[in-house]
Amino acid sequence: MTALPAFRATADDASGLAVDALLIGVNTSGVCAHEALLRALGYRDVPFDETFTGRVGESLRLAGSGIAARSVVLVGVGEGEPGDDVRRKAAGSAVRALGDDARSIAILSTSDDVDSLGALLEGAASGAYRFTEGRSEPDRTALRRVLLAVDDHQLKAARAAARRTRTTMAAEYLARDLTNRPPADKSPAAMCDFARRAMPDEIEVEVWDEARLEDEKAGGLLGVGKGSSRPPRMLILRYRPDDPAGHVALVGKGIVFDSGGIDLKRPWPSMATMKTDMAGSAAVIAAMSALPALKVKTAVTGIACLAENMPSGEAQRPGDVLRTLDGTTVEVRNTDAEGRLVLADGLGYARSLDPDAIVDLATLTGGVIYALSDLASGAMTNDVELQSEILTAAEASGEPMWPLPLWEDLRYDLDSDVADIRNLNTAHGGSTLFGGLFLRHFVGDVPWVHLDIAGASYTKKARHHYPVGATGAGTRTILRWLAARND
Ligand code: BES
Ligand code: MN
Ligand code: ZN
Repeated sequence: MTALPAFRATADDASGLAVDALLIGVNTSGVCAHEALLRALGYRDVPFDETFTGRVGESLRLAGSGIAARSVVLVGVGEGEPGDDVRRKAAGSAVRALGDDARSIAILSTSDDVDSLGALLEGAASGAYRFTEGRSEPDRTALRRVLLAVDDHQLKAARAAARRTRTTMAAEYLARDLTNRPPADKSPAAMCDFARRAMPDEIEVEVWDEARLEDEKAGGLLGVGKGSSRPPRMLILRYRPDDPAGHVALVGKGIVFDSGGIDLKRPWPSMATMKTDMAGSAAVIAAMSALPALKVKTAVTGIACLAENMPSGEAQRPGDVLRTLDGTTVEVRNTDAEGRLVLADGLGYARSLDPDAIVDLATLTGGVIYALSDLASGAMTNDVELQSEILTAAEASGEPMWPLPLWEDLRYDLDSDVADIRNLNTAHGGSTLFGGLFLRHFVGDVPWVHLDIAGASYTKKARHHYPVGATGAGTRTILRWLAARND
C-alpha cells in the first residue's frame, strides 16, 4: 500500500516551520496573501518572469535564507481569488514540481473553510502519489509530511480538513494502488483478499465464488470469466450504521484484465493498459473503506463484479446466449463488450436489495474518451435528480463529469433475434450511450446513475495534481455525495 503523507494543522509562526518547502499562493496580479514572508526573504515584489507569471500549474522555488524552511515555493493560482479546484490543482502541481526535493512541506493559507483547506491537502496528496510497489529500490524521497500553516482562528477548520482528507485520500490511494497493480497480481480472488485486508471492522465482507455464482445464476460474470484460468468473483461489502438514513448500492466494473476475449481487442484502445479495467471496482472498494471514518449515515452496499476477460478454448463465443442473475437472456455479439455483462449481474443483485439509489462506476467504453476526452466521465441516468446530486459532488471534488443522454430512440438497436437483449449495437457511433442503455435494463425503476470512467480513470500524462497512471476516478465524488446525504 502506498503510504499517504501525514497531515497536520499548525498555527505556529510560518517562518519558524522546519520543512523542506513552504508553499504560498500568488495570483497573476502579483497578489500574495503572505507578503510579509516574501519581504522577510528580501523580495519587495513577486519575482515574476517568463517562467513564473502566477498561472495555475506554475511554481517558483526561492531559496529560504532567513527562515527555518529550506525554501519558499511561490505557487500560481491564476486570476483573482482561487476557488477550491484551483487550490487543488495548484497545490498538486507544486508538489509534483518539487519531485524528490521535498520530504516535508507546509502550505500557507488564509482560508477558514474546511472544503478549501481540504482541497489544498487533496491536491498535495494527489500530486505526491507514487506507485512504487514494482520498483526494486524503496522510494526514499516521497513526501512524508504536509502541514497546513494557518492562524489560530482557522485551526479548527484546518484540523477538520486534515481529518477528512486523511480518510478520503487514503481511499483514493487505495483505488490507485489497486488499479496500477499489474494484472498478474490481481486475479478476481486476489482482489477480494486485497479488499478484505483494506476494510475496517465495520464493513462486512462477502465473496461469491464460482459455486455461489452458479447458485445465483450469475451468468454474466460466469460467461465473461469462462476464458480465464482465474475464475470470477462477486465481492459484496456492507456498511450498516445504526439507524441508517436510507440505503444506496455502489456497483463497480472489475475486469482485472480485458484482452477483449475471442473478439480480441483491436489496436485501439491499447490492450497494454487494460489492467485498469477494474478501476470502477477499485473506486467502490476504496469508497467503502472510508465510510465508517466519515460517519456516513446512509447504509451502503458495495458490489464489485470481478472477472478476467481472456480468449481460450473455454472462452465464451460471439453468438452465445447467457442468462444474467435477474433472468434476462443476453446475446453476446462481441466478447469485448464484457463490462456490461458482469455489471448486469451486479446491478441485478443491487436492484434485488431494493435500495433508494444505485450508482455504478465502469471503464465501459472507449467512446466516452472520444466524446468527453480523458478528462471527464460520462454520467447517464434514469433519474435526473440523482444525477444532479452526483454532478454537484463531482464538481466540488474536481472530478469532471458530464451528462450524456439515454435516448429511447436508440434502444431498438439492442434488440436481439435470439435473446431478450444483445450486448452490442450495430448503429455507427454512440457506443457509450448503448452501454448505458444496456445497463439501464437491469436497474428497473430504481434511481440510478451510470458513470463511464474509461477516460478519467487513467492518465497517460501527468496533469495538474495527477501523476501518470491511475487516478482513482470517482472515489472522491462518491464519498462527497454520501457525506452530503448526512446533512
Ligand atoms: N474496457 C473497454 C473500454 C475501455 C476503453 C476502457 C479504453 C478504458 C480505455 C471495454 O470493455 C471495451 O472493450 N469497450 C468496447 C465496447 C465495444 C465492443 C461495444 C469499446 O469501447 O470499443
Ligand atoms: Mn472490453
Ligand atoms: Zn472492458
